[in-house]
Amino acid sequence: MSETNTFSIRVEPTKHSRLSQVDFNNLKFGQAMSDHMLVANYENGAWTDVSIVPYGDLTVSPSMSALHYGQAIFEGIKGYKFEDGTVSIFRPDKNWERFNKSARRLQMPDVPEEIFIGGLKTLLDIDRNWVPSTEGTSLYIRPFMFGTEAALGVHPSASYKFVIITCPVGAYYSKPISLKVETYYTRAAEGGVGFSKNAGNYALSLYPTQLANEEGYDQIMWTDAAEHKYIEEAGTANLIFRIGDTIITPHGDTILHGVTRRTIIELAEKWGYKAEQRKVSVQELIEGIKSGAVSEAFAAGTAATVTHISKIGFEGQNYELPPIEGRDFSNKVLDYLNQLRYGKIEDPFGWNF
Ligand code: COI
Repeated sequence: MSETNTFSIRVEPTKHSRLSQVDFNNLKFGQAMSDHMLVANYENGAWTDVSIVPYGDLTVSPSMSALHYGQAIFEGIKGYKFEDGTVSIFRPDKNWERFNKSARRLQMPDVPEEIFIGGLKTLLDIDRNWVPSTEGTSLYIRPFMFGTEAALGVHPSASYKFVIITCPVGAYYSKPISLKVETYYTRAAEGGVGFSKNAGNYALSLYPTQLANEEGYDQIMWTDAAEHKYIEEAGTANLIFRIGDTIITPHGDTILHGVTRRTIIELAEKWGYKAEQRKVSVQELIEGIKSGAVSEAFAAGTAATVTHISKIGFEGQNYELPPIEGRDFSNKVLDYLNQLRYGKIEDPFGWNF
């Protein structure tokens, strides 16, 4: 695929906007889809037919490869509306880079910037009235790609669809969450696909998460595949801890490197905190909670934003985290990101696109 290609985007506006049917005061995550979607096809080694069309069903073959062998990846991005009506997307360049990293691991084609970012910009220009403006709300943007070849042989699909859908959302987690340290099931192993945002990583989490839910926990805290000694991520978000004076987040190829995680580490460094991306053992965490060294623990992700962790369950014991009000760092991050994303303060980093 040549970098110099220019894609014209065909636009077919909807004749029946659904905007007036949406209760913007009661937004549930991922339920009310915006009027339009972007669709592009990859055929014969090139991207083609980039179009923005009314949101609706896609027609696929029952022998489509993604349904059988799982070549399916996605991203999560958020768009915000400023008081003056400006629509801003938070760091979409970083999601575009990660999307193509996921694509390469699953032997799928790169999506050019012009389609991913340029297409998103055109889509949001058309659906700008779908971007909510009250604090705590945003437009969730879901770019995804899947193999469409109708053939049952196990090989990389010869054709793909890249699609962007969007939906106005409120909070993904409406309250602090409890996590169960998972010491049997595994999300990802070294050399696997843990760093990629592929559909299978989410499918495999559903059964162990259901078991954790039955025990009263909201989510799982994944640990490493080899020994179940080191903390990885929460599956729907990365994990960040404050231990002593240091902001620490697990690191490595078995976790998804989130844009929110990266943003928070960059902020911590800028604000003069010591920040570390390194292995964190379950033992270090549990002992730190017991001694009081762990003063903050939260999940960080596009959907989750910053979600405080209330308690952690490990080997049948519950460990309560300190009260939310005293969590200076995570509360400061939340407040700062809210102000930045809604355009209430200057953006010194160029993160608002
Ligand atoms: C996101 O944070 O955007 C995610 O993709 C997590 C989850 C909703 C699947």
